[in-house]
Amino acid sequence: MRFTIAIDGPAAAGKGTISKAVAAHYGFAHLDTGLLYRAVGARTLDGTDPIVAAKALTAEDLDADNLRTPEVAQAASKVAVIGEVRAALVDFQRAFARRAGGAVLDGRDIGTVICPNAEAKLFVTASAEVRAERRYLELVGKGTEIDRETVLADVKERDARDMERAEAPLKPAEDAVLIDTSVLAIEEAIGAAVAAIDKLHPAE
Ligand code: CDP
Repeated sequence: MRFTIAIDGPAAAGKGTISKAVAAHYGFAHLDTGLLYRAVGARTLDGTDPIVAAKALTAEDLDADNLRTPEVAQAASKVAVIGEVRAALVDFQRAFARRAGGAVLDGRDIGTVICPNAEAKLFVTASAEVRAERRYLELVGKGTEIDRETVLADVKERDARDMERAEAPLKPAEDAVLIDTSVLAIEEAIGAAVAAIDKLHPAE
């Protein structure tokens, strides 16, 4: 059975949490495509050329433990504007999407560019302030020393870069179901995502 669920949205909208829960609900595999860009961005911090890093990327690189830092997030959004970097990562994502048994991919361009024929597309969003507060609590919870203003500025800067880039800009696919998680608790957001997918495919 091939079944692809594409979940896109801006930084810290809750895509990761929703995607993992949706994948568990249907018994599908999950790929956080942000990790691909984060892994390439992390390599550029040691001076590696981003296109060389993208072409050499392996699945093991996604397990590195430094990929969730704000510095790596910024580096990721900088390498993500480069067409050759994006092109080098397409085949891996498409192969994952069509694996047997179903797949959930979350990112910025899954429904628009990577999997335009996905069986279900969601666009998960929330206000910049709500997203920044969630990311702030997540970072502080992991022991990162950072203040709210810095996190909000990072989220806004990456959103602007992701939406304004020429290659695969962040935007909802025309047929995506929008889920605004600003006023939803985690369980409600997951429930809304599963309900939207079940409505699109009542038999699945
Ligand atoms: O977790 P968060 O939403 O903060 O970020 P992420 O999903 O890990 O993505 C990090 C960066 O990678 C984003 O700011 C984008 O610039 C880039 N990205 C992308 O361009 N396309 C994707 N499919 C996924 C991430």
